[in-house]
Amino acid sequence: TGKVALDIGFVNTASCTSAITYIDGDAGILRYRGYPIDQLAGKAGFLEVSYLLIYGELPTASQLGEFDQRIRRHTLLHEDLKQFFNGFPRDAHPMPVLSSAVSALSTFYQDSLDPFDEEQVEISTLRLLAKLPTIAAYAYKKSVGQPFLYPDNSCGLVENFLRMTFGFPAEPYEQDPDLVKALDMLFVLHADHEQNCSTSTVRLVGSSHANLFASVSAGINALFGPLHGGANQSVLEMLDAIKADGGDIPRFVERVKNKEPGVKLMGFGHRVYKNYDPRAAIVKSTADTVLDKLGGNNELLDLARQLEEIALQDDFFVERKLYPNVDFYTGLIYQAMGFPTRMFTVLFALGRLPGWIAQWREMIADPTTKIGRPRQLYTGATERDFVPLDAR
Ligand code: CMC
Repeated sequence: TGKVALDIGFVNTASCTSAITYIDGDAGILRYRGYPIDQLAGKAGFLEVSYLLIYGELPTASQLGEFDQRIRRHTLLHEDLKQFFNGFPRDAHPMPVLSSAVSALSTFYQDSLDPFDEEQVEISTLRLLAKLPTIAAYAYKKSVGQPFLYPDNSCGLVENFLRMTFGFPAEPYEQDPDLVKALDMLFVLHADHEQNCSTSTVRLVGSSHANLFASVSAGINALFGPLHGGANQSVLEMLDAIKADGGDIPRFVERVKNKEPGVKLMGFGHRVYKNYDPRAAIVKSTADTVLDKLGGNNELLDLARQLEEIALQDDFFVERKLYPNVDFYTGLIYQAMGFPTRMFTVLFALGRLPGWIAQWREMIADPTTKIGRPRQLYTGATERDFVPLDAR
């Protein structure tokens, strides 16, 4: 009943109330549960921030210790789930492998899927936080034909992930504390971003009372797209293509401005940020240090810097308020860390997981939640009479 408003892409429509993340796009502000992102990044660890997002408050030292221990107990994958990875082609992109494996968790934990049983939601939360890094590392190992490594629960979450990704069973893996710190910080920057495409997907799927694994699996698929999390992979591919084309940046920028089909300045622009993306500012300032230390691809970094400089002075981008977003420099850092391009969006998913969980839990716990069911404005044929096949 009543009028239906058209809002393509939900530019002006709030789908829920939320107390988790605050963004002021004009002022370039991002806060998790009230804490500014620049105060959290580099100071609070990823698990600490996960706890903050999910439970609403920063943990005390003992709460954090307990949270960490409880997650560590769940890092193993069921041996049957391990078989699952062999069913994919060797060159499978790790994102659909990730979402499929998360979807499959529903089949391994059928006794704890009730969204309205707090204990079951809690155990599913811990399982998901603990197992996603293992799943991600296995997806990588499968793609390079190397043996899977069991998690080592004497390591923290990020250390364990790095070890399972880059380590080998036959030799001890030496952790690089700078790398652990940098990846942990990047996860913090990605941990939540209110009602973006993947989070809205998690909520929409969950609003039908689908379980947490099913909802998060859907979110991973939404994140895969190049306009969303897939942008970090696309940025590097774009820089590679510019380099292969002789490094002619002005020519590339002209192609973007001429709106050649499929040609965008990837890693630029944001639906909400129209001034700057505070996450991008932090990433950019750490890119130098991390790349110096890890020896990144300086040629691509130089291209990225020049591209940014040229775009920021160009009326096309200025008028449209297009600035670098979080994905513009992250790919270069991930590459320097040793990750292949195809793993970049998986890293985004690992970082975004606590946000998806927090948002799903907030929605389920909210008694005013209704099933998500947008309306439409119908533009098809008016009523007409059926013509039998032999008369058409
Ligand atoms: N390169 C060239 N032109 C652009 C870009 C870009 N990256 N982004 C927006 N525009 C243009 C767009 O063509 C439009 O021009 P016009 O008014 O002449 O039609 C204008 O700017 C407004 O853009 P829009 O597409 O209406 O904006 P939106 O809010 O619907 O889209 C976006 C936001 C992030 C999808 C878009 O900016 C984009 O495609 N960026 C590139 C992909 C990317 O970097 N995504 C990562 C986003 S941040 C992390 C995440 O969420 O995953």
